[in-house]
Order: sequence, then structure tokens, then C-alpha cells
Amino acid sequence: MSATSESGLPIEPVYGPSELDGWDPGEKLGEPGSYPFTRGVYPSMYTGRPWTMRQYAGFGTAAESNRRYHQLVEAGTGGLSVAFDLPTQMGYDSDAPLAKGEVGKVGVAIDSIEDMRVLFGGIPLDQVSTSMTINAPAALLLLMYQLVGAEQGVAGEKLTGTIQNDVLKEYIARGTYIFPPAQSLRLVSDIFAYCQREIPRWNMISISGYHMAEAGATPAQEVAFTLANAREYVRAALSAGLDVDEFAPRLSFFFVARTSILEEVAKFRAARRIWAHMMRDEFGAKNPKSQMLRFHTQTAGVQLTAQQPEVNLVRVTVQALAAVLGGTQSLHTNSYDEAIALPSEKAARLALRTQQVLAHETDVTKTVDPFAGSYAIESLTDDVEEAARDLMRQVEELGGAVMAIERGFQKSEIERSAYAIAQGIDSGERAVVGVNKFKANGDEPYEPLRVDPELEAAQCERLAALRESRNGAAVDRALDELRTAASGSENVMDPMRDALAARATGGEVCDALREVWGVYQPPSTM
Ligand code: 3HC
Repeated sequence: MSATSESGLPIEPVYGPSELDGWDPGEKLGEPGSYPFTRGVYPSMYTGRPWTMRQYAGFGTAAESNRRYHQLVEAGTGGLSVAFDLPTQMGYDSDAPLAKGEVGKVGVAIDSIEDMRVLFGGIPLDQVSTSMTINAPAALLLLMYQLVGAEQGVAGEKLTGTIQNDVLKEYIARGTYIFPPAQSLRLVSDIFAYCQREIPRWNMISISGYHMAEAGATPAQEVAFTLANAREYVRAALSAGLDVDEFAPRLSFFFVARTSILEEVAKFRAARRIWAHMMRDEFGAKNPKSQMLRFHTQTAGVQLTAQQPEVNLVRVTVQALAAVLGGTQSLHTNSYDEAIALPSEKAARLALRTQQVLAHETDVTKTVDPFAGSYAIESLTDDVEEAARDLMRQVEELGGAVMAIERGFQKSEIERSAYAIAQGIDSGERAVVGVNKFKANGDEPYEPLRVDPELEAAQCERLAALRESRNGAAVDRALDELRTAASGSENVMDPMRDALAARATGGEVCDALREVWGVYQPPSTM
């Protein structure tokens, strides 16, 4: 009797040689670092360079987050990863009515180039790679970063990092969208063209499955809906006249790592193979770098429990191992206390130490793709690939990712999976240790990290001072030029950069674009 995987696929109690009858490793796997990249995107993978330990962090003011970044760099983290608060993510200034109560809460408040300068104070931007989890207003934060780099004397071509810039998944899950899909895709294409010209080493998008997975998507749905979104971005860039082998090498991805380690390893390997085929066969990409699916992984936040939180250390370790055995390029390990509150410094350090133990005390960096040829993993990889391709066909039949989004297809598929997970937990069929099995009584109380209540007022005072001290007429002129570009087909990035350099705020820039482009209205769900 076979068990069932997270994607609803059979997991056989025993796999044997017959599973791989007629199975051609040359065609299915290739060599590490070669098409179709099933075994990994680089020939040497971790034997050449371990994955980047990139811990997502940010809260409160730019000064507070700057302190945390210095702590993380001192603790050995390999790359920075900025979490922004909701007002910043939604394109509102900290003193906007809608920002009330959210300033500095789930991430750092960045209103202007002045905050960005503080955020990276003392951090040489030519020596770190920085990821910024920002979507609808990604252009603004990238430009502020470039301007601060220029102030440090670092030219655009020396900057390395990533902006998430993946609004399609925001319509499906997470919700930090602003503009309608057509205008969002135009802005993404403008960013692609600008980065090619000004910041060529920048990964200008991180096409994400993580948030859809956290909303309930199965591994097959996570891969399918992410790659269907990616297909839409490639089409938008091509119709904007960009060359696939120019922009595709700087596309990147972001997935979750669940506790179900075997299927997760299969998922990552299947995703690389699907992407390689799509880029070569459908879009005619010739550059191997255009066919490589490079990705970041974050361990599954939704699988952490508030009960017996120390048990989360075990979950995160297993999930991190899944990401590493699956060939991730960059990894964030969640803190064990995250189901309760903002990570404490101790928990954040333990999360990083988890990666360091995997990288330096185990042997997982000594050989590439150790599961290659495994009866079980290769069978699971094929099965996840087939299930994902089937879902991608369904999205195509609806007219592609945007049309499917407008019809609520991805959202309803994910909600159905989420409901099945919840039912399984409620019935006890799906074990969650400490929650519906192996409970403990009277767990010790936990002291969460609190955000300073004075923070919002202080941030608003800084904003008022900025508006007072800047040249208002110059800002108005720059915003008018931005509106003109947004109304036509001119790339909006250059006038946007000039407005930010004149100390226009993020909210003012987004308001100027809202005036011209309008805002997204989600389809009414029955
Ligand atoms: N052999 C040869 N070269 C190698 C190598 C090897 N074994 N390993 C690495 N390299 C090279 C690479 O080619 C690269 O060089 P290049 O820049 O000149 O091409 C360099 O070393 C760095 O390697 P990677 O690019 O593989 O690693 P990075 O860490 O720099 O980049 C990435 C990884 C996935 C491509 C990038 O897009 C990235 O860092 N993404 C991070 C995204 C992120 O952190 N997101 C956070 C989201 S949190 C969120 O959404 C909210 C919350 O709610 C979840």
C-alpha cells in the first residue's frame, strides 16, 4: 500500500531497479552544471562554494535594522536580506493614514533615500550581495540602493543582489500589490531594461513559490504556478523588445523547503529540469545561464508551532537539509520563535548556526547532488515534474498566468489544498508534534521581542523634517516628469531615480504612479 506525498502523489514503500527501466540518465539528468541542470546549476556546486547563508531580517527603524545587519555580518552571514514593513511594501509613507500601527512592524520602515543611507551605514555595498523583499514598489527601493551605492563611490555594475519584484504571486497570495497586472508587467520590463543598462549583475526578479506554498500550495502547485508566472514575465520582457539571452541569466527564483524532505529534493530537481526545457525549447534561449534555475530557499514558516517552540529547531534543520540536498543557491533558516513573535537575537543566531553546522560539520558539501540515480528520488522527481507540467498546461489553457489569476484559478486551487491540510491536522491524520500529538502541559512562558511604540512617531518626525528641508519645487518637477513617462512608453526608471535623488518619498512616487496607472481591483470571489 503506497503512502501519499504532499502533492498527493504515491510514495511507494520500496522503490527498485524496475522504476528506472528505460530511464536515460543522460537525457533526464545531464552532468552537474549542464543542461537540463537536474543535478544543480554549477558543475562543482557546494564543493566549489557553499550556498549563501542569507538571513531575512529587518524591523523598526533603519538604524535598528542596520545594527542587526552588522550583527549578522559579524556572525558570518554571507548575504543580506531586507524585510520591509507593510507601508513600504504597499507604497505608502510612514505618515500615511493607512500606515497607522504598521510602521516598522513586520520589517524596516524606508520612506526615502535618507532611510536607505542609514540602513546601509557602514556596510560597503561593493562587498555584500543584498536581497530586498519588495514587490510593487521594487523599482524605488532598487534605485534608492543604487543612489546610496553611488554616494559610497560604488558604481552600478559593482552592485550585486536581488529584488523580489514578483507582483503576479502577490495577486495569488500575500497581497502586497498596487497597480493592475498590465502596468505591473510594464514596470517589471522597465526594471529589466534598466538593470541590463545600469546594474548588470543585479538579479532583477525573484519569482517566488514560497508565499503560495505558505498559503497551502502543494509542491507540484508551487512549482507549476511559479514557473507559469515566470513564463508570463519572459513573454512581457520579449514583447518589450528585450533579448532573452540578455535578461534571462539574471532571473532568479524563491521556493519553500518543507519538512517532507524526500519530495522537496525531488521538487527542486524537477523545477530545474522544467525551466531548462522551457527556456531552450519554448523561448529559444541559447545561453546556458538563461536555462539555469538559480534559487533561494526559506524553510517553511507555516510549519513552525507556537507550542513547544524549541521543537522548531528540529523542523528547521530537516527543512534546511532538504534545501541543501536539493541544490539551493541561497538559504534562509527560520528562527524557532517565529511562530510567536519577531525573532529574538539568540533565536536568529541559532537559525544561522543551523546552516553553519550543515555546511561545516556534515558531508553534504563534499559531493554534488548525492541523490542522483536513487530509485526513490528519481521516481519522485519524474512524478513531481509530470504533476507540475499538467498544472502548467491548465494555466496555459486559461490564457496564461494573468488570465488564470483574473479567473481566480491559482487562488482556488491553493485554497483547496490548504483546506485539506487543515482537515488533516484537525482529524489528527496529519501529525504536528506538540500540537495534535505528543503535547506537553504548562510550557514555560515566552518573552517576545517588542517593537518600540515610540517608533512610528519618530519616523513621522523624520519624514516631516525631510519635506521641510528639501527643494519642494524640484521634487514636484521630478514627479511631473515621472507621470509623463508613466503615461507614455518611456522607461520610468530614470525619472523615478531623479525624483528619489531629489528626496521624493516612496509614497509620493507611488502616488504619482497610482494617479496615472490606477490600482488593482481583485476579481470578486463568489
Ligand atoms: N561554481 C562556480 N561559481 C559559483 C558557484 C560554484 N559552485 N557557486 C556560486 N558561484 C558564483 C555564482 O555564479 C555567482 O557569481 P555571479 O554573480 O557572477 O553570477 C556568485 O558565485 C554567487 O553565487 P549565487 O548567485 O549562486 O548566490 P547568491 O546568493 O549571490 O544569489 C540567488 C542567489 C538565488 C541567485 C539570488 O537571487 C538571491 O540571493 N536571492 C535571494 C532572495 C531572498 O533572499 N529572498 C528573501 C525572501 S523573504 C520573503 O519573501 C518574505 C517572507 O515572508 C518569506
